[in-house]
Amino acid sequence: MCPRTGGGDVVFEEASYFAPLDHSEDGTVSVRLGKDHPGFADPVYRARRDALATLAAQWRPGDAVPDADYTEEEHEVWRQVSAALVGLHLAHAAQPFLEGKETLGLPEDRIPQLREVTELLAPLTGFTYQPAAGLVPLREFYGSLADRRFWSTQYVRHHSSPLYTPEPDVIHEVIGHASTLANRRYTALYEAAGAAARRVESEEALQFVSKVFWFTLEFGVVREADGLKAYGAGILSSPGETSEFSHMELEPLDLVRMGTTEYDITVYQPLLYVADSFAQVEDVVGGFWETCTDDSIEALKHEAGAPA
Ligand SMILES: [Fe+2]
Repeated sequence: MCPRTGGGDVVFEEASYFAPLDHSEDGTVSVRLGKDHPGFADPVYRARRDALATLAAQWRPGDAVPDADYTEEEHEVWRQVSAALVGLHLAHAAQPFLEGKETLGLPEDRIPQLREVTELLAPLTGFTYQPAAGLVPLREFYGSLADRRFWSTQYVRHHSSPLYTPEPDVIHEVIGHASTLANRRYTALYEAAGAAARRVESEEALQFVSKVFWFTLEFGVVREADGLKAYGAGILSSPGETSEFSHMELEPLDLVRMGTTEYDITVYQPLLYVADSFAQVEDVVGGFWETCTDDSIEALKHEAGAPA
């Protein structure tokens, strides 16, 4: 899932991206879609969202991950997005992503179960998938990465808008993230981000760690010999953003700017940070996550003249 954060203080804005959930005493969950959601007026889709959220909410650590009974319409959305991304990835994805995607070998004709994603990933990097009904608190989401556990939604975007969703659906989680989690160069970064989230104490420091994640592992771009490429799961799970990212405002990799820049996930990301190489991401961002503390983050911000 996307640990989407908004403001610079402790008031997270994920609730506006993850539809809020209502838990009933009988264990069922209903999803409150916003009026502008493509599936808001579709009772069949809303029932599916409720059923899948209930399935995930009833899962407990240690349980087998439950299979979702995806409909043919849901599989068709996956097929459309997978097909659209094949050529776009070859043209615009960074080499480590392409290597991970190739190694993973996801089905393109149907939505794989999270159980199957784990079966593919675990032998490669040790990562496993576990179901999220909706928003998982930032510290829990990241902390799990340190244990090579990835919280993933299971629902699918509405069929009326297959190529775009502001919500992190199973297409984002699996085509975007699992392709990266199949490559050990990426998983070292995910695990370091997880360790950082567990190490820092203040919400402000956690937000900084999260925003650096956002501008790298979700929306990072990198220069390769044949041009600008995307390596972030947020870009590479969206056909629209994979087509458009090179036209966005591009800035050099900068920890303090990434860690303090506000962003809005409801539009294509207008500002992206470009690494000179994936090795630079590993050195600068991975190195930061491996050692950062509340004090070191404050010191970085102070040196850069950023607001405390
Ligand atoms: Fe994500």
